[in-house]
Order: sequence, then structure tokens, then C-alpha cells
Amino acid sequence: MKILITGANGMLAKAVKDEFKNEELICTDVAELDITDIVAVEKYVQNVKPDFIINCAAYTAVDKAEEQKELAYKINAIGPKNLAIASKKNNATLIHISTDYVFGGNKPVEENYSENDEKNPQTVYGSTKLEGEKFVEENCSKYYIFRTAWLYGEGNNFVRTMIKLSQDHNEVSVVNDQHGSPTYAVDLANIIHQAILKNIPYGIYNTTNLGYTTWYDFTKKIFEIKKINCNVKPVTSEEFQRPAKRPTNSKMSKDKLLKNEIIIPTYEEALKRYLKNE
Ligand SMILES: NC(=O)c1ccc[n+]([C@@H]2O[C@H](COP(=O)([O-])OP(=O)(O)OC[C@H]3O[C@@H](n4cnc5c(N)ncnc54)[C@H](OP(=O)(O)O)[C@@H]3O)[C@@H](O)[C@H]2O)c1
Repeated sequence: MKILITGANGMLAKAVKDEFKNEELICTDVAELDITDIVAVEKYVQNVKPDFIINCAAYTAVDKAEEQKELAYKINAIGPKNLAIASKKNNATLIHISTDYVFGGNKPVEENYSENDEKNPQTVYGSTKLEGEKFVEENCSKYYIFRTAWLYGEGNNFVRTMIKLSQDHNEVSVVNDQHGSPTYAVDLANIIHQAILKNIPYGIYNTTNLGYTTWYDFTKKIFEIKKINCNVKPVTSEEFQRPAKRPTNSKMSKDKLLKNEIIIPTYEEALKRYLKNE
């Protein structure tokens, strides 16, 4: 199969390129293909004629987005819209990535978000990603939207930051009132591959590793696996204010993927695998 990957220098894109290394890949960064430019997108897709477009391009600076609303909207909403239009015209399947931030994040923490639960984004980033989802649904029919969360992989990420901090500090403070599922980019890329091979129904899927934790417990797990002797101090989100509000509850049910016989590793197993090379 011929696959066009956009945003090809990003964290997820690196894992996607590796997962699909045996396929015919056309990898584009923003200089080669700016997804916000409809003329460029239509021309590029028409020339390449891919079977699949995997959109790894996004505006992901969650805090900065609060001040760069227009730019975030262009990349996270107009970008996928352009790709959806071009996919439809060229009979390609669009694979788009979204986020837990489309939900309100305030459900009781014992509960999980299902794909169809009410959307109520609390941030500019989340709102623009939700607009992107809607544009994909409206403009093409052959699409998968994989909603992920707490992503880590090659490059700078939370796990690496914690390990770095532990090298210069005896203690790190980490929020313990935000709940979710860390997701290894390698596993997300593999799930995308499984979905294509199994030809599961088009639509929206919550897509994280299995199991739930807090950033605090996740940090303790990282240090435990790496045998790092550093105290982890639990703090509240109130004590750790940021420009964009973080969801208290990011827990997304994976039942829909599991019903389609997609194999999803647990976050603990994924973390161990990732840490073998860190
Ligand atoms: N990271 C997370 O924790 C997380 C959580 C939930 C969902 N997600 C979603 O997962 C997906 C992948 O995230 P990621 O962490 O891999 O993102 P990332 O590392 O920030 O990569 C995004 C890439 O998109 C490129 N890009 C920006 N504007 C573009 C444009 N107009 N045209 C083409 N490329 C453009 C960026 O290039 P430059 O760097 O040159 O700007 C960057 O290489 C995104 O859809 C994101 O919303 C991520």
C-alpha cells in the first residue's frame, strides 16, 4: 500500500514510519506539504495518489495555543479538513489523530469516556482538535480518527523529562489528581496498522494503552523500573497552575477497539519496553 505521512518529523510520525517501513511511504514535513494550504494539499494528493493518508501533523503546544488560537485552528481544524477533501477526491482513506482534550475531563474519575460521550473541550487546543474531527467526518467517509492521550515516544517527552529531573534532584513534584492512560507512540502506530489490516469499520476510536494511572503513579512506575532513587512528591493541579487547564479525567474506554479484536498492550508493559532503550 502507498501511504502519505504528513508532519513526518513529529513524535508519532517517527513511530508510524517505522511501523509501516515495508510499505511505500511518502513522508512530508511542513516544508514539503503544509496541510493548511488547500491548493498544495489537493495537488500533492492528486499527484501521489496514496491509498492512505496518515495525518501526524498538528499544533500540539497546549499552553501556547491559548494565545495562538488562529494558528492552532488552521493546523488542527483546517489542516484535517483539507486532507479530508483531498482524500475523498482521490479515494484515499484518511487516518487522523485526535485527543482526550475534546472531552470536558470532569467526569467522576471512576468512569471512563466512551467515543460518543458529550464533547466539551476546555482549552483552545481541545476545541481546535474537536473542530478537526468534525471536518473529517463532514468531508470524507473513508476515515479513522484515533483519539489518543499522554503520548510518549522518540524525542522529548514526559518519561524522559522525569528521568532527567531525577539526575539533578532528590525529589520531583508531580500532580496526582489527573487520571489517564499513558500511550507509547510505537503501540499507537501498531494499532493503526492492525486497524488497517483488519479492515475495522471506519469511525472514531479511543486509542491509548490499556490501564489507568495518574502522572504521580506513572512517575513512580518509571523510577521503579529504572531503579532510580528519587522521591516523588504528590501535588494538586491547583498547586501546579498552567495556562491551559488540564483534564482531571482523561480516562477513555478502549472497548470499541477491543471489540474489533485489536490487541492493545498495557501501559506498564509498554513503558518497560520503551525504557529498555532509554
Ligand atoms: N503528544 C501528546 O501527548 C498527544 C496527546 C493526545 C493527542 N495527540 C495527538 O497526536 C498527534 C501526534 O502528536 P505528536 O506529539 O507526534 O506531535 P508533534 O511531535 O508536535 O508533531 C507534529 C508535527 O506536525 C508538524 N506540523 C505543524 N504544522 C504543520 C503544517 N501546517 N503542515 C504540516 N506539518 C505541520 C510539526 O512540524 P514543526 O515541528 O516543524 O512545526 C511536527 O513535526 C497529534 O494529532 C496530536 O494532537 C498528542
